[in-house]
Amino acid sequence: MKTILVTGAAGFIGFHLCKKLLDLGHKVIGLDNINGYYSVQLKLDRLKELGVEEVFEGHLVSSHTYEDKFQFIKLNLENRNELPRLFEKFDFNVVCNLAAQAGVRYSIENPEVYVDSNIVGFLNLLECMRQHKVKKLVYASSSSVYGNNSKVPFETSDSVDQPISLYAATKKSNELMAYTYSHLYDLQIIGLRFFTVYGPWGRPDMAMFLFTDAILKNKPIKVFNNGNLSRDFTYVDDIVEGVQKTILQNQPSQNNYSLYNIGNGSPVKLLDFIKAIETITGKTAKKQMFPMQPGDVAQTWADTSDFKKDFNYEPNTDIKKGVVSFVEWYRKYYL
Ligand SMILES: NC(=O)c1ccc[n+]([C@@H]2O[C@H](COP(=O)([O-])OP(=O)(O)OC[C@H]3O[C@@H](n4cnc5c(N)ncnc54)[C@H](O)[C@@H]3O)[C@@H](O)[C@H]2O)c1
Repeated sequence: MKTILVTGAAGFIGFHLCKKLLDLGHKVIGLDNINGYYSVQLKLDRLKELGVEEVFEGHLVSSHTYEDKFQFIKLNLENRNELPRLFEKFDFNVVCNLAAQAGVRYSIENPEVYVDSNIVGFLNLLECMRQHKVKKLVYASSSSVYGNNSKVPFETSDSVDQPISLYAATKKSNELMAYTYSHLYDLQIIGLRFFTVYGPWGRPDMAMFLFTDAILKNKPIKVFNNGNLSRDFTYVDDIVEGVQKTILQNQPSQNNYSLYNIGNGSPVKLLDFIKAIETITGKTAKKQMFPMQPGDVAQTWADTSDFKKDFNYEPNTDIKKGVVSFVEWYRKYYL
């Protein structure tokens, strides 16, 4: 049994990961600042699913369902006074950093929060690990680091020196900082570039949610780049399966630092994605066509061969199955 710190535990992927690790019998400490980037209620409801009924700034709360196996703390990663106390209290075997200010478009309007959460917060975590001799870190990077890479599928050996949003630039910075800490302090670090994650309890700022919500309410949907976009949509259970393997298994390579793509490996055209939602909901989308948005990329497609080889990773949820699960959850939660 391991003791694992999961940051971003009230977030979409963090919530699913905590549940998985707890069901496998591990002890999990969840951390999140529960910011208002999107519905705070949705974040609190995810925590309720994990047995956490109430949260108090800076205080650890135990889960009703998992008891002391799951404890949650509402805390900012930027808090340089309180974060080290958490590392004094627990002897973490692994840290998994999923907390971040996500979203490409929001980073155009709100650059500061990306630097605060994604760079200052990430540095604080690395420093706590160094000082408290926690040897293993798994952290979320993003397919957005590939920017306008035209060569597909995207491989981790491709150049990622031209991020086209500040969000992407902070994720690339994380990869560089992580490398430096693994080199200087002998930390084992695995970076994972996630590709468009969707599924139940998903984020309200993402296409899956926005489209389903609008289609069910007979409202128009905004389709960017006139629909000429494709994404390597990856179902959340497949992502979580991959993340838990990197947390629980030993690093296969000799190197302390490794970086992988984690995606479905099969891009879906945006218009086909919309069609899948139309089929499941039995409604027709009212599409409003818009030009490309600043910071957005035309396509993403993960080459996951390294991850398959090293961690025996095999995503097995196709888009039709995944959309059914999302729409079912959406109806149950909102309607
Ligand atoms: N969902 C995707 O498609 C996707 C794709 C690529 C990368 N990622 C990355 O995966 C990770 C998880 O993404 P998600 O979709 O679950 O996002 P999310 O926004 O649902 O979860 C992130 C959580 O981190 C918390 N948080 C943000 N800043 C914080 C801070 N400074 N201190 C403490 N908590 C903070 C937020 O309150 C939120 O609950 C993020 O790092 C994100 O950048 C996600």
